[in-house]
Parts: sequence; structure tokens; C-alpha cells
Amino acid sequence: MLIINDKTFRPFISADAIQTRIQELAGQINEAYADQKPLLVVVLNGAFLFAADLMKNLTIPCEITFIRVASYTATESTGQLKQILGLSESVANRHLIVIEDIVDTGLTISEVCEQLSAQNPASIAIATLLFKPAALKNKIDLHYVGFEIENQFVLGYGLDYDGLGRNTKDILVLE
Ligand code: IMP
Repeated sequence: MLIINDKTFRPFISADAIQTRIQELAGQINEAYADQKPLLVVVLNGAFLFAADLMKNLTIPCEITFIRVASYTATESTGQLKQILGLSESVANRHLIVIEDIVDTGLTISEVCEQLSAQNPASIAIATLLFKPAALKNKIDLHYVGFEIENQFVLGYGLDYDGLGRNTKDILVLE
């Protein structure tokens, strides 16, 4: 049990289950990308622990870089747009694996992939620790999914509520 501000969270996915699943995903990536020296593109902040544990289980040559997604309001009709910040190296002709903590509506990851695609990478795959299929707005191909979950608010293992709660080994869910 964890209380943050006015909210109570209870245990949901254990640290052991998370690590076991990450090892499985890493095994798939090791096979699929054996000769491709993939570039892991980590979407901060939420994916930092997932990315670290995933990368520790990769045995193939690979590189990592970190981006942030900043939301800004463009016009009333387009609403919030998202811009990638922090990508300093070229992704042209690279095999990219975008690492997300959670795909909820899918708007963040689709914008990120669209903006990366414009820079002509060799390929783009998505690895997300969590996926809420019920909340998805645009159809997207998710290549590596840790856990599909119901449309509930979760935190821990990198995910936050109001900036807090990222520092747990397991994932908790709002009561
Ligand atoms: P999307 O654009 O709706 O897919 O939102 C994705 C982002 O929203 C994630 O990268 C998280 O930062 C945040 N998010 C969505 N659902 C949750 C949740 O249940 N807990 C914590 N953060 C969440």
C-alpha cells in the first residue's frame, strides 16, 4: 500500500513479474536485431527504469539515447501538439526501438514515431512496458508489450502521480 497526497495505491504487478517479462522481451529483441545495432530511443521520464532493465538484458551491440516530449497548444483546432526535444544524433538509416513506459491514448507514441520517421530511419519499432488497449485512440503497431492492463491509473517503476511514486520496484494501481 502506498499513499501519495490524497490517493491510495495497492500492489498490482510485482517486481519479479516485471523482471521476468523484461527478460522475455529482451530475448525477442536479441534475436530480431542480432546484426542491426539498434538505437534505443527512450521517452523520458517514465521509461527510464524500464529502459535500463531492458538494456541490461540485451546481449547484442546496441546504443541508447533519450528524448523528452513537450506538449504545446498550437491552435484551437489542432489542440495539443507534441514536440521531440533532446535528439542530438542522427537517426537516419538506424534501426530504432522507441521505449515508452505506457501507451494510453497512443497520441504521444504516434507523434514521436511520426517525427522520427521524417528523419528516415531504417526501421522503427515500439517497446512499451504497459499498454491500455481500451484507451487507444489511433491504431498503432506495438511490437514489444510488457503487460496489457485495464483502463486504470498505475504508478511505480518509473511511472508517477504528480511527479511522485516513480521509485518503487513494483507497479501499483489506484484503489
Ligand atoms: P498517451 O499519449 O495518452 O498514450 O499517454 C502516454 C503518457 O501518459 C505516458 O508516457 C505516461 O507518462 C502518461 N500516463 C498514461 N497513463 C498513465 C498511468 O496510468 N500512470 C502514469 N502515467 C500515465
